[in-house]
Amino acid sequence: MNLFAKRLLYPVFTLLVAVLLWQGCKKDDGGQDGPPCNISGVSFSYTANIKGIIDRNCLSCHGGLGPGPHDYSTYEGIKSVLDNGLVLERVVIKKDMPEGGGMSQAERDSINCWILSGYPK
Ligand code: HEC
Repeated sequence: MNLFAKRLLYPVFTLLVAVLLWQGCKKDDGGQDGPPCNISGVSFSYTANIKGIIDRNCLSCHGGLGPGPHDYSTYEGIKSVLDNGLVLERVVIKKDMPEGGGMSQAERDSINCWILSGYPK
């Protein structure tokens, strides 16, 4: 192999590995971004306007006694599934939570905007 080929192959190979790793990580996150926030002029926080939505829609199953995993009755209890993107995925993108439906689109939008602003407490 001549010098030119070596100089060219190394960066191309590195780029390929980087792209493959990136794709792999994207899949671990559920692979999708949600829609942009469509509510302006409201600053969302867990205490002010999100806890009520979660209490009403989720605690019948995610209140610690099952059948849903985790206890979402506190900020600390729901934080892990906010961090790993599962709330965004299940409530905003797939909309298969709450199981059985019953959550309004306006409530899903509020959850989305709150997550996009970094889900402040
Ligand atoms: C009628 C019962 C029920 C309700 C209400 C419900 N869930 Fe669930 N949820 C489940 C069950 C059962 C699972 C586990 C099976 C699965 O992942 O589908 C689950 C799983 C999840 C997961 C994946 C958790 C993990 O660690 O894998 C998330 C996130 C979630 N629910 C969010 C919510 C949110 C947010 C609400 C309220 C807006 C909600 N769910 C309302 C039953 C429910």
